[in-house]
Amino acid sequence: MAFVKVCTLSELEEDTPKRVELDGVPVSVVRTEGEVFAINDICSHANVSLSEGEVEDCMIECWLHGSSFDLRTGKPSGLPATRPVPVYPVKIEGDDVLVSVTQES
Ligand code: FES
Repeated sequence: MAFVKVCTLSELEEDTPKRVELDGVPVSVVRTEGEVFAINDICSHANVSLSEGEVEDCMIECWLHGSSFDLRTGKPSGLPATRPVPVYPVKIEGDDVLVSVTQES
């Protein structure tokens, strides 16, 4: 799987999602609780950018209807979303944050 640098660690503010695009795939990169996660940026309920939502307890909340998705698994915690959002493996190399969208984790 191809890991691609998306940003540096110092560019990521704690609990503030950063939207990037990798091979045409919109990805929200989130630094929280000492880890970095990558989740597809589109809510599984409608075409809404998750990176505009709030992060809390390792969950990212969709701002439109309030479903939260687990940053580790992509699973929604409750309605209206019922389907998970893809999550992607992240690697940290020095200050670089690398993500692979060719394989979902
Ligand atoms: S668009 Fe995200 S919960 Fe409805």
